Amino acid sequence: MTILKELESRLAAALTTTLGEPASAAVTPAADLRFGDYQSNAAMVLAKQRKTNPRALAQEIIGHLALDGLATADIAGPGFINFRILPSAYAAKVTALLADEKLGAPPIGEGRTVVVDFSAPNVAKPMHVGHIRSTIIGDSLSRIACFLGFKVIADNHIGDWGTQFGMILHGWKTLLDADALEANPIPELLRIYREVNAATKADPAVLETCKNELVKLQAGDPDNLAIWQQCIDVSKRGLQKIYDVLDVKFDHWLGESYYNDRLAGIVDEFLTKGLARESNGAICIFSDGTKKPEEDPFMVQRENGWTDNPAIIRKADGGYLYATTDLATIQFRIDEWKADQVWYVVGVPQSLHFRQIFDAAARWGKTGNFQHVAFGSILGDDRKLMKTRSGDNVQLTDVLDEAVERAAKIIAEKSPDLQADEAAEIARIVGIGAVKFAELSQNRLTDYVFAWDRMLALQGDTAPYLQYSSVRIRSIFRKLDAPFDAASATITLNEEAEIHLARLHARFGELLPLILEDFRPNLLANYLLELARAFHSFFEACPVLKSEDSIRESRLALCELTSRILTTGLGLLGIQCPERM
Ligand code: ARG
Repeated sequence: MTILKELESRLAAALTTTLGEPASAAVTPAADLRFGDYQSNAAMVLAKQRKTNPRALAQEIIGHLALDGLATADIAGPGFINFRILPSAYAAKVTALLADEKLGAPPIGEGRTVVVDFSAPNVAKPMHVGHIRSTIIGDSLSRIACFLGFKVIADNHIGDWGTQFGMILHGWKTLLDADALEANPIPELLRIYREVNAATKADPAVLETCKNELVKLQAGDPDNLAIWQQCIDVSKRGLQKIYDVLDVKFDHWLGESYYNDRLAGIVDEFLTKGLARESNGAICIFSDGTKKPEEDPFMVQRENGWTDNPAIIRKADGGYLYATTDLATIQFRIDEWKADQVWYVVGVPQSLHFRQIFDAAARWGKTGNFQHVAFGSILGDDRKLMKTRSGDNVQLTDVLDEAVERAAKIIAEKSPDLQADEAAEIARIVGIGAVKFAELSQNRLTDYVFAWDRMLALQGDTAPYLQYSSVRIRSIFRKLDAPFDAASATITLNEEAEIHLARLHARFGELLPLILEDFRPNLLANYLLELARAFHSFFEACPVLKSEDSIRESRLALCELTSRILTTGLGLLGIQCPERM
C-alpha cells in the first residue's frame, strides 16, 4: 500500500472512533514541506458539517490516530492535520520498493479493458505535427494504463476511407510517376494529392471527376478498390517506419474502412429504434430533449435562440460519414472487445463530434466510459501554427529527422570518442526523447511553442537532462568492483537530502493513478524532473562511493532505486535511456 493510502486508512479509523460513524478521509501530499509530508483537511470539512470548532475536532481526531511507526501529526492553521513521515518509515518504504518491480504502483486497472484510440492519421496524406501530439500522448497513456494493470488495446483508427481518395484515385490515373512511387511512396502520393487538390479549385469539372471516382470506389469498383488497396499498403508501410523510429506499437489498425459493411445496418437500427430520423433526405440524430440546451451536443445557440444541431449519419446521396463510422467503432469495441473504457486522443477541434457520438452511443445502449482526451496545437517560433517556409503543414518525419540530427551534433561535441553506430543510436534515443518530453511535460490542453534549443538542452527541463542523470547514476555502479545487490542493503536515512530522495521515491506509486484521472502525463514528466534534481542535490551533499560500509550501502541503494524509477518513469513516457551519452 502507498504511504498516502496507509495514512488515509489510519485517519479513517480515527474518524470512525471520533465521530461514531465512518467519514471520508482524504489525504494529499503537502504543498509546503516545511509543514510536513502530507496533509488532510478532513477536520475542517467535518467541523463545518457539524458546526463545531475545526481545531478542537482535529485535536480529538489526532488523539485517536494510531500513527505508530509511520508518522507524527500536528494541527496547523484553521484545522489542517499535517503528517510528517518518520525517516524509519521512509527507509522501510525504500526497502519495499527495491523488492517491487512495480515500484509501488497499485494495480488499479486489474480486470478492466481500455481501448486507447490514438495517432489515427489519414492515409495518403502526410502525418503532420498535429498527429505528433496524439501519437506521443496516446502511447504514454497506454503504457501507464498497462503498468497499472489495465488490459490495454492500442488501436490506430486510421482515416483510410475519406474523401481524399477521390483526388488520389484521379491523380493516380492521370499523374502518377511509378518510379517515384516505388522509391518513396508517401511523398509521391502527397504530390498527386496536392496537384489534384489545386486543380479541383481551379476547375469544377476536375472536382466532379474526383467525386465520381470516390462514388465508384464506395460502390466497390474493382479497379478503384485495387488502387485504394495499394495506397493503403504503401502508406501503412511508411507509417510503420515512423512508429519504429518513435518506438510506438499498436495492437490493431482498424481504420475507418474496416467498418464499411456495418454502416448500413447501423443506420437502419437507428431508424427503427427511433434514435434517428430523416431530414431533407438525410438521416440525422437529433436531441432527445433530456438535457439542458447548454449541455446538449445536439443543440446550438444562434441569434434567435437554441436550434437543432443534428449529426448526419447518412447523406441524402446515400453516403456515410465520420459519425457513422465512429458509432460502428464504438459498437465493435464494446461488443467484441468488451471495453470498459475508450480514450480518444484527438485534438480539441473534434470535441463536438465526440460529445455527439458519446451521447448517441449512450442512447443506443452502448455503455462504457468514453473520454475525449483533447489537446491544443503546436506553434512555431512566431506563435502561429507550425508551418514550413512554403506555408505547408510541417511533416512529422521532417521533425523527427531534424531532432535526431541535432542530437547527433550535441553528442558528437560531448562525447567525440563514441563509435559511429553507438553514437547514432544514442542520437536517436536523445533526439526522439527530447521531442516526446517537450510534448509530455506540457499541459495537453495548452498550445505550445516548438523550440529546438530548449527541448534539447542538457541542463533544463528536458529529456536529455533526465537521460543524462540516469547515465550518471549508472556510471556510479560501473565504478564498483563487484555487482551491487540493492535488495540486501539496509537503508538508513539521516541527511535531509536522503530523506527527500526517499520521499520522492514513495510518491511514484501515488502519482501514477492520478495521471489517469484526467490524462495528464505532464504530472509524471514534472515528477521525474523533481526526482532528478533531488538526486543531484543528494549526490552533492552525501558522498556515496567515499562513505563507509553501511552508509555506503544504503546510499548506493538510494542511487539504484532512483535509477530504476527514472528509467521506468521515462519508459512510461515512451522515452528510452542510453547506457552512455
Ligand atoms: N483520422 C482522424 C484525424 O486525423 C482522427 C481519428 C480519431 N479517432 C476516431 N475514432 N475518430 O483527424
